[in-house]
Amino acid sequence: MSYNLLKGKKGIIFGALDENSIAWKTAERVHEEGGTFVLTNAPIAMRMGQIKELAQKTGSEIIPADATSEEDLNNLISQSIEILDGKLDFVLHSIGMSINVRKGQHYTDQNYDFTAKGWDVSALSFHKVLQGLYKADAMNPWGSIVALTYMAAQRVFPDYNDMADNKAYLESIARSFGYFFGKEKKVRVNTISQSPTPTTAGQGVKGFDGFISYADKMSPLGNATAQDCADYTVSLFSDMTKMVTMQNLYHDGGFSNMGVSQEIMEKFSK
Ligand SMILES: NC(=O)c1ccc[n+]([C@@H]2O[C@H](COP(=O)([O-])OP(=O)(O)OC[C@H]3O[C@@H](n4cnc5c(N)ncnc54)[C@H](O)[C@@H]3O)[C@@H](O)[C@H]2O)c1
Repeated sequence: MSYNLLKGKKGIIFGALDENSIAWKTAERVHEEGGTFVLTNAPIAMRMGQIKELAQKTGSEIIPADATSEEDLNNLISQSIEILDGKLDFVLHSIGMSINVRKGQHYTDQNYDFTAKGWDVSALSFHKVLQGLYKADAMNPWGSIVALTYMAAQRVFPDYNDMADNKAYLESIARSFGYFFGKEKKVRVNTISQSPTPTTAGQGVKGFDGFISYADKMSPLGNATAQDCADYTVSLFSDMTKMVTMQNLYHDGGFSNMGVSQEIMEKFSK
């Protein structure tokens, strides 16, 4: 169903790799709600990805950008304003990658070159996006910027590795930059802390299968899907949430406030 919540709104969506991506579902949903946007991803992801299909489906243009490159980001921002014929109302940062996770380096045995690269891609890139938008004065007043995060920023999930630290940093940037964006530009900045979701990035985490079932059994509403996340993001891009900023918003079926659930207890009762 469409409510036309984003009619006339323009934006940039980072991170649609394939149809499982949270950004992919969000792009489809934003399109349904009347929003127009530019799609972007790292040049390398674009070669392997199916992003062209999504662009066709949503009538969008694609501009490659490595989110760690200020030059790429500045080019992306200025070209997007040109293509969309006006300033932006929404931006989705849906980017994450840890080389330590990928290469199986344990948290207690980090390769710090990998750590630095993962931090740049997963955390600092959000600051670079925000700073690029801020300096170019690219956002309309009451615009909305959202980044995706995970609860390992607050609580320990041992196999989430250095991504836990990256997410803590990312959430802190949303607060710190959210202040200046709110004060100077009337733009809101939030993070959505999403349930485990079967995507390329998600499934890269060791033990993901056990982990996603555990979260599902712990959450009174079950896990939030990528599609649910797309809906929530649309609400944050809409005018219905104008006064929400600098928040880390749990979108997890209730998981973050649980101690134990009936299902989990049954597994351990004699
Ligand atoms: N899947 C989950 O369980 C889960 C849970 C909570 C939060 N998240 C977060 O959601 C976001 C999206 O991930 P996803 O689960 O949809 O997986 P995904 O693998 O589909 O998306 C990750 C994206 O990051 C992009 N990326 C990597 N390096 C980049 C770079 N240098 N420049 C630009 N883009 C780059 C990839 O190309 C890819 O499109 C991430 O921030 C992730 O941490 C995921």
